[in-house]
Amino acid sequence: MDQRNRTMIMVFLLCVIVDMLAEGHTLDVCATCHANAICDDKLDGSGKVCNCKYGFVGNGRTYCQDKDECAIGASRICGHHTICHNTFGSYYCTCLAGYSPSNNMEVFIPNDGTHCQDIDECGITGLCGDGGRCRNLEGSFECSCQLGYQVHNGVEPFHPHRDRAFCKVVDCGRPASVEDAVLLSVTGTTYASVAIFGCDEGFVRRSGDNSSVCGADGQWRGATIVCEAVDCGFPPAFNHSHMLWNKSSRMGTEVLYQCNSGYHNVGMGNVSTCTAAGRWETPSMLCEETLCGRPTIIENTEQVWNNNSSPGSTVLYFCKEGFSNKGGHNVSICNENGQWTSPTLSCQEILCGDPPILPHTGHVWNGSSTPGNTVTYYCKIGFYYSEGENISLCTSNGYWTKPNISCKAKCGPVPFLANSEVVWHNRSVVIHRCVDGYHSWRGGNVSVCGSSGLWQKATLSCIEIKPAINHLFVLNEKCVYWKAEKYEEDTEVYKVTYTGSRDYQRSFHDNRKRFLSSKADRLELCLNLLPATNYSISITAVSARFTTTITTNTSLTVPPAPVVYYREFETPVPTLRLHRTPDTLDPISLYQVFVLPVEGIIMFDCSSAASSLEHITAQIAVRHVGTQMDFTVGDGLYYGGFFNEPLENGRNYYIILRAVSQWKMALKSSCVLWAKVRGTSYILRVSSLSAFASVGLVALVILIGYSFTWFFKKT
Ligand SMILES: *[C@@H]1O[C@H](CO)[C@@H](O)[C@H](O)[C@H]1NC(C)=O
Ligand SMILES: *[C@@H]1O[C@H](CO)[C@@H](O)[C@H](O)[C@H]1NC(C)=O
Ligand SMILES: *[C@@H]1O[C@H](CO)[C@@H](O)[C@H](O)[C@H]1NC(C)=O
Ligand SMILES: *[C@@H]1O[C@H](CO)[C@@H](O)[C@H](O)[C@H]1NC(C)=O
Repeated sequence: MDQRNRTMIMVFLLCVIVDMLAEGHTLDVCATCHANAICDDKLDGSGKVCNCKYGFVGNGRTYCQDKDECAIGASRICGHHTICHNTFGSYYCTCLAGYSPSNNMEVFIPNDGTHCQDIDECGITGLCGDGGRCRNLEGSFECSCQLGYQVHNGVEPFHPHRDRAFCKVVDCGRPASVEDAVLLSVTGTTYASVAIFGCDEGFVRRSGDNSSVCGADGQWRGATIVCEAVDCGFPPAFNHSHMLWNKSSRMGTEVLYQCNSGYHNVGMGNVSTCTAAGRWETPSMLCEETLCGRPTIIENTEQVWNNNSSPGSTVLYFCKEGFSNKGGHNVSICNENGQWTSPTLSCQEILCGDPPILPHTGHVWNGSSTPGNTVTYYCKIGFYYSEGENISLCTSNGYWTKPNISCKAKCGPVPFLANSEVVWHNRSVVIHRCVDGYHSWRGGNVSVCGSSGLWQKATLSCIEIKPAINHLFVLNEKCVYWKAEKYEEDTEVYKVTYTGSRDYQRSFHDNRKRFLSSKADRLELCLNLLPATNYSISITAVSARFTTTITTNTSLTVPPAPVVYYREFETPVPTLRLHRTPDTLDPISLYQVFVLPVEGIIMFDCSSAASSLEHITAQIAVRHVGTQMDFTVGDGLYYGGFFNEPLENGRNYYIILRAVSQWKMALKSSCVLWAKVRGTSYILRVSSLSAFASVGLVALVILIGYSFTWFFKKT
């Protein structure tokens, strides 16, 4: 119900209410009226009566029920094309769908002259939707689709509200493809769109229409174009050539021509193409026999070529003598184009430069350093040629050969080494050896000629081969001396044993031993040797295990003078006393007593064995003496074969005591003046070294030799 209809209903109800209010009430009757009744004046004026309200049916009191006015039929009560609507106590009319009331109100009641007339729905644009075409009908309308549109979801005609059908623009979609043709252009895919086809590349149009049109039914129509493939047939041929062809004669196919071996193309192009026109596009190819002519000349090279200048022929290049290959291609080939490929060989003149410098040499050279030249080396002054090649050659590889000449310094004659001889030598080496009887402790035996031209002498030192102990001797009957034979730094230990013996004294043994350790090569060892003894001295060099022995004898010593006290006697038979010296050489010593008359000059030689023999009165072996002896001069007895003759009265005598040591030919003695007997006129004193004493005595001295002593002691 629209606004208009609602307003109509409101107005109607308002009128009813106004009526009711105007009626007024009479009690009694009116009060009994049904709610849907009104109290009316009776027609006859006799009171009130309850009448059901308009639209209600009943007795007015107990019931007033709604009356369905529409029951008689809408067309009867409301008119054609209407709908009757019963309401509580009333009714109203509306038009059927597709009709509109002539009063332009939503609802109406029939008797207001309103009628329902057909609505032309097609007056409303767009009712049928996009592409739809509206057709009005009595009370309704229907839709169909315009040209270029098609119904969807239903069939035509359709009602847009009832049906789900709608119009949609025709879409032919992609134009249908045409064999061997391509779509050149298309105006769209909607109705009446036009697609133009053309033949595919390589195809030509034979017949038919080249266009296609989108029909109302959404289908493309037409394009009956018939395209036929281009066929160029068999390609043209050229003399002296062959073709590379894939056997297709379709458009665009290319045929490549190649001149046969030995020929080359002097024309233009070598490709034939199958054109759209169905013809081979022909190159102006022309194969002519190929010849490369004379090969390229390269500086400093020579060629090996067989004079063939046809393709495939080769030229070999190599460097001229005296030139070296610095790289690059050395082959040129006559190619199909009739051209020699360019060789890149580069050759450079070979130069050896300056010849090598060799020690101690000079050389002879013509100054040219190209291959084949030579340099001759020689040894400089002061050097001699030892060995090796002395010629250097500039070789073809640009180097001087290295001569191995060796020049050695001249050292001159072989060096001298004392006590040695040369075993072997050449100009640079000498081998020495000690001569027989000599040896070397240490040191090299090779002398080498140094580079400075001087011999580096062998360090060998030759020493006479001697026993470890040599030059042994005894000096002064006291000390032994010897020379050691050893390496200078060595220490040697010497054992010295010495044995003394005496023929005259069997019991005598002097056995002693000494040790000595020394590095010295000259040794001295002083031994306390006893006199008149034969000694055997053995020296052993312990490390060298060498022993040598020397014998020596010590000489007889002067016997010590006996200890006496000089006395003067007045008696012809004086008794004298002596003390024996303990270290006399007993077995060979004796005492002699001399009695010399004091008359004139007396000569007495103490050293002489024979001297004054006639004056001996007694001879006593020392061993018979003990420590002390008393001797009486002139007792008339024999002592040692000498007669102790009694002294003559009135004569003066000197008594001399002599100690004598004698062995073999040696004799040593010492004398003392023992006593003077009877009156004496002078006294004699003899000193070994002729130092004359004074002591108030006159001494008459006869000196013979010096191995005697006279002691004088004043009592
Ligand atoms: C289509 O065919 C017509 C007549 O046959 C011609 O004139 C026109 O050029 C053709 N169009 C194309 C694009 O080939
Ligand atoms: C001498 O001999 C030595 C050793 O055999 C040898 O090395 C050297 O080359 C020789 N010298 C000479 C000049 O012959
Ligand atoms: C020493 O030896 C020699 C020779 O054998 C001998 O004649 C001499 O009497 C000896 N001397 C001593 C003191 O034994
Ligand atoms: C010993 O002494 C005598 C003379 O006294 C001497 O002739 C001799 O050569 C010495 N030597 C030996 C080993 O006897």
